[in-house]
Amino acid sequence: MRESTASTSSTEQETPGRDPAAEARPAECPFCKGLGYLRADVPIDHPDFGKLLPCSCRLAELTQRRAEALRSLSQLDALSHMTFDTFVPEGRGLTPEQQANLRWAYQEAREFALKPEGWLVLKGGYGCGKTHLAAAIANYCVEHGQPVLFVTVPDLLDYLRATFAPSSPARYSTRFEEIRTAPILILDDLGTESGTPWAQEKLFQIFNYRYNARLPTVITTNNELDEIPLRLRSRLGDPDLSRIVSIIAPDYRRAGVAQDQSDLSSLRLHAHQTFATFDLRKGELPPEEEENLARAVKLARKFAANPQGWLAFTGPYGVGKPHLAAAIANYCAEQGRAVLFVVVPDLLDHLRATFTPHSTVSFDQRFEEVRRAPLLVLDDLGTESATPWAREKLYQIFDYRYNACLPTVITTAVPIEELDQRLATRMLDVTRCTLFAILAPPYRGGQSKSKRSKR
Ligand SMILES: Nc1ncnc2c1ncn2[C@@H]1O[C@H](COP(=O)(O)OP(=O)(O)OP(=O)(O)O)[C@@H](O)[C@H]1O
Ligand SMILES: [Mg+2]
Repeated sequence: MRESTASTSSTEQETPGRDPAAEARPAECPFCKGLGYLRADVPIDHPDFGKLLPCSCRLAELTQRRAEALRSLSQLDALSHMTFDTFVPEGRGLTPEQQANLRWAYQEAREFALKPEGWLVLKGGYGCGKTHLAAAIANYCVEHGQPVLFVTVPDLLDYLRATFAPSSPARYSTRFEEIRTAPILILDDLGTESGTPWAQEKLFQIFNYRYNARLPTVITTNNELDEIPLRLRSRLGDPDLSRIVSIIAPDYRRAGVAQDQSDLSSLRLHAHQTFATFDLRKGELPPEEEENLARAVKLARKFAANPQGWLAFTGPYGVGKPHLAAAIANYCAEQGRAVLFVVVPDLLDHLRATFTPHSTVSFDQRFEEVRRAPLLVLDDLGTESATPWAREKLYQIFDYRYNACLPTVITTAVPIEELDQRLATRMLDVTRCTLFAILAPPYRGGQSKSKRSKR
């Protein structure tokens, strides 16, 4: 007969008659006489009535077995280098705000490791250090003798599915119980699992059980909370149980690789376009246009000194919009900021290229890199092909950055009323975006009195 109480929920399919440890156990326990099991002394209506339960003399052994089972399920060996000691709380090349945020995330993770209680949700973009912090918690707990299960959500679902194979050495119910009741459960990468109803159901059961039992749980995710199914979200987001730590640091793996920090960025092609090389066209333009151009440069300088909100330049081709945008980006990159400068049609090409079989980067990774870039410069909006897919992706980028108030510079030669309305309304929100129309005619390399041609 198999045991079914919570206290016997270890991986092994324990049957008293088959337990080799029982043979080695001395017959000196006054309670079980060395059998290791006792029949539960409970009223007839109790769920444990008639069941064999492990004797207290076996508890240490069972705890040890359980810890070993969790350890073998965990994928911590590969992550043993991810500790609090190897985590750099200041990150690399971060703004003061990002540094403070990462340090806070680090402190929260440390506090959880010292006293694992409640739930800790670590969310943020690719490579910001979520897995590292989650693994650091797990490694710390293991080091201090606390059984912990660290598993990515897709792997967890695979473990469960694997028990359906006829040759599976473990039973589904045993494994499920083991995960559900793990003393500390660390679920990495929620949101990357397949969204089948079965997978969602299993996750919900695990979350719900741990929520009701208030069991210590760490969850990492790339997703925004509103992208997580409501049933899970309502539990994750319960402030009585759960602390949500949103990490705003960019990808650590890319930081410091280059000034502009991404192979998506074409800033290196605009290295010469700085404030110093921008021609204010003094004496060439009529006073009104000269003054308008000077104001554009002033706005750009102000934004570069303290990138906040959105700055959008409109105006005909050839008036220096990309130059001003690049000057902002170059200035910020010089200050050690992570900047992504990208021409909109190229951006969409980069996103499309992730679908080719030889792409080394996934669409999600690219998309998130753009969506969450600490400073994004979108040059030449409006020249991209207006397929529904392209419009959708741009909208998602705009919407995310608008809601998150992420510093963004946009240039466009298309009149604002001709842009996609969903983009235009965000650019027209004066609380978020400074929209500036450059009035000057196209630049002719410093030659005076060029013929006006508005496009
Ligand atoms: N602050 C940091 N100090 C030291 N190493 C870091 C830091 N942040 C990230 N790393 C390292 O960068 C790499 C990526 O970090 P990690 O895997 O934790 O990112 P993630 O947020 O889980 O990303 P993803 O969403 O892609 O899973 C890892 O090798 C990690 O050790
Ligand atoms: Mg990760």
